[in-house]
Amino acid sequence: MTKIIFATGNMDKMREIREILSGLPAEILSMKEAGVAADICEDGMTFEENSRIKACGVREALPEDLADAIVLADDSGLEIDALNGEPGVYSARYMGENTSYRIKNAELIRRLEGVPVEKRTARFVCAISAALPDGSVRTVRETIEGKIGYAEMGENGFGYDPIFYLPDMSRSTASLSPEEKNKISHRGKALRAMEKELAGFFRDGGAA
Ligand code: IMP
Repeated sequence: MTKIIFATGNMDKMREIREILSGLPAEILSMKEAGVAADICEDGMTFEENSRIKACGVREALPEDLADAIVLADDSGLEIDALNGEPGVYSARYMGENTSYRIKNAELIRRLEGVPVEKRTARFVCAISAALPDGSVRTVRETIEGKIGYAEMGENGFGYDPIFYLPDMSRSTASLSPEEKNKISHRGKALRAMEKELAGFFRDGGAA
């Protein structure tokens, strides 16, 4: 059976990806489960580029017995329009990797002081790339649109969720349950889009 290796060490992501890709005729493995290690510099200018760099880098590092495996990698982050798209691809590194999100979120709210509600538009973006055994790469990109709130709200989620407000739902993404969030999130949508891409690939006999 074809192996799909997802380039992450994050177990929450692995649970979500296993669930969404469960219909594919493939075995889904984390890098650790596949026994693969690779240190890749994500120096792309876009989410798409970074996910491609990661997927291709890990595929190149695969041992011979995994030569037929598909490698998936994602890159995601928050784009705030009033800040010219910041923090963008630097979302994890914004103000330093080790700075708490309490501080990062407070700083973003401070930087938006005086920005009216209609200009506080933002989106979470997720790009996922699949590096296929024939050397080709497929990439999908999905978003969820929202607005930056005036204070943190909600206890669930992680990262920038407490300041990412969904006007239609009158809640932040940190106020949603994981199931509710997966249905509408950038990552959930991108995973489902990639599932469709890969289903087509398997249907065409690509991984025979
Ligand atoms: P990664 O590419 O999945 O590692 O995500 C990069 C960074 O983007 C995270 O460390 C968070 O700062 C931010 N981010 C991505 N997705 C979300 C989300 O769903 N909620 C909150 N923050 C997110």
